[in-house]
Amino acid sequence: MRLRLFQRHWVAFVESTFLSLVRLPKSNTDLLEEIAPDVERLYNRHLDAPRLWYPHEQIDWGSGQDFGTHPWSASDYPLADGVRSAIYVNLLTEDNLPYYTSTLLSNAPANHPIREWNLQWTMEENRHSMVMRDWVHITRCIDPTLLEDGRRVQMSTGEVPQPDTFADLICYVAFQERATQIAHRNTGAHLPKDDKMGRNVLALIAGDETKHYLFYRDLAAAGFAIDPSSMMMAAARQVVNFAMPGTGIPAFTRHAVRIAREGIYGLTQFVKDVLSPVLELWDVDHLAGLTAEAEKAREELDRTIAKLVQMVERMAQKAAAETA
Ligand SMILES: [Fe+2]
Ligand SMILES: [Fe+2]
Repeated sequence: MRLRLFQRHWVAFVESTFLSLVRLPKSNTDLLEEIAPDVERLYNRHLDAPRLWYPHEQIDWGSGQDFGTHPWSASDYPLADGVRSAIYVNLLTEDNLPYYTSTLLSNAPANHPIREWNLQWTMEENRHSMVMRDWVHITRCIDPTLLEDGRRVQMSTGEVPQPDTFADLICYVAFQERATQIAHRNTGAHLPKDDKMGRNVLALIAGDETKHYLFYRDLAAAGFAIDPSSMMMAAARQVVNFAMPGTGIPAFTRHAVRIAREGIYGLTQFVKDVLSPVLELWDVDHLAGLTAEAEKAREELDRTIAKLVQMVERMAQKAAAETA
């Protein structure tokens, strides 16, 4: 009898301790309000390390040729298909900026510092498509007619992800900024050594993306400290459903396959260079105070990562066997 009473007390003690440690998810509005000081802190950090560069100074204007007298030909700039696809997809993704701005601002209440950040972000992103297009036209590295046709198609659909909550949004953008940083960096590394202009342009863009990534990565880390359960569920949703920006681009899948085959960006980079470092920094494996639903989300995230890692390993083995 005494033992049973002890057991009951023990169970009650464990339950009350556990429940007091569980942190209930906050509303979208509460998260936005509580994260405001972190937005200001990270925005100021961003401004403290300015990256001022001028698109017009990166281009060797004298090396260009008139397209009327010298129509574009693939032999103007010999390049592997996968690298051409990467330039095409990366540039069109940058062109689609207005729709990203609109999504980001729709999650930014009036007078919230995230609004100011979004405007700064837009200002910085806008120069990426400008400078890339100048470089593309001067060097003729991809077909300008194909590029413009793609821009018209993509921008007239305005297809961009629309995360449901602020927690989803900052998780998605952290992954996406890291992914674009890797894609620009690896594309630059695949350019011929003598295209110093292109290598420099893509390095400058990748540098901007690094700063954007650091902002969102650390903002999401602050979100995990404020509301671990909502952030855990959001991170899991975003990993399970993650798609690279650019799905509205004509023949996107064909280009994505070529880009991955070239080793520029694909599942391997997504797992090794995007998911692993970001999730490790957020320390998702050791988050405490999760609700039962958030614990389930973490388990789903674990299963998804394990599956992706397996796929990457199988792909590497297949590639090694083909090489052999
Ligand atoms: Fe960009
Ligand atoms: Fe960016």
